[in-house]
Amino acid sequence: MDVREIPIEKLDTQTFIAERIEEIRSDVGDGLAVNALSGGVDSSVVTILGHKALGDRLRTFFINSGLMREGEPEHIVAVFRDLGVTVEHIHAEDRFFAALKGRTDPEEKREAITQTFYRDVFGDLVREIGAKHLLQGTNYTDVEETVAGIKRQHNILEQLGLDPEKMYGYRVIEPLIRLRKSGIRKVGETVGLPAELYTRPPFPGPALAARVIGEVTPDRVATVRWATQIVEEELSGSGAFQYLAILHEDRVTGIRAGKRDFGLQIEVRCWESTDAKIGSPTRLSYEVLDRLAERITTDVPGVVSVTYNVTRKPPSTIEAI
Ligand code: XMP
Repeated sequence: MDVREIPIEKLDTQTFIAERIEEIRSDVGDGLAVNALSGGVDSSVVTILGHKALGDRLRTFFINSGLMREGEPEHIVAVFRDLGVTVEHIHAEDRFFAALKGRTDPEEKREAITQTFYRDVFGDLVREIGAKHLLQGTNYTDVEETVAGIKRQHNILEQLGLDPEKMYGYRVIEPLIRLRKSGIRKVGETVGLPAELYTRPPFPGPALAARVIGEVTPDRVATVRWATQIVEEELSGSGAFQYLAILHEDRVTGIRAGKRDFGLQIEVRCWESTDAKIGSPTRLSYEVLDRLAERITTDVPGVVSVTYNVTRKPPSTIEAI
């Protein structure tokens, strides 16, 4: 892999920001560029760097894949409006669910999301606008895991030998590719993002699809979205690196109102990590676990079982898919 990491101890954020802004300007020239903002730390930092470099020549889109968390599109558009950045909300829910229909293999699901995102949604957008560049927040861990064949991160193209210019008609610019998450948070702080954004727990590009085992349908995403909201409410004060809910494919026998209920299972994960490369489960108190089980089985329709994952990464990965 010929990308060289900048470790956090060697990162001078002011210099890094100035260099990346110059680089974006010289790469884009006097043309137009687009970027996708999910509201995660990486894409938020790229959006601000891009706007500092290009101003109105950068169009920023929030692609609504139908796989996002509750209220996320509206919230992110509003936060960036306050920062002076216009974010255009693109409804692509139908395209993503059509591409995911009938797919159960994790890597096939990831591939379907990549193609829908880059070829279909962004392919159309750049043609419409006449942009030649896409800015995105790929980080060092994404590249490392994809190249190692662990998990195909949705945003890795060139490192897999894919040429986006040939395939989709635009070049990809990746200003954060030499940093890990901790370095990106530091750059986010220096570049003036609100703390709410640069301290956000990581969230994967394939969004809730990375947390649905088996077929990703609107109904199954609604279930995991509901459980995610409860997990985030209960664990946001835990100080953990990342916490999530996963919907399993297997059903288990439960009891509801004195009757048999062959229901759904939700797995909760909560991670201690600094860079997502290795991780260990947070030692949550039994009280917290009990409240999670109680709320998820009471509020989320159909769920009769809640488990907590106590495996480290490796051999686990942070997301289930
Ligand atoms: P894993 O599941 O590989 O996750 O242990 C490591 C970190 O990366 C996030 N993640 C992704 N981020 N695109 C992303 O931008 C992806 O396809 C993707 N898959 C996982 C995950 O949430 C964790 O922080």
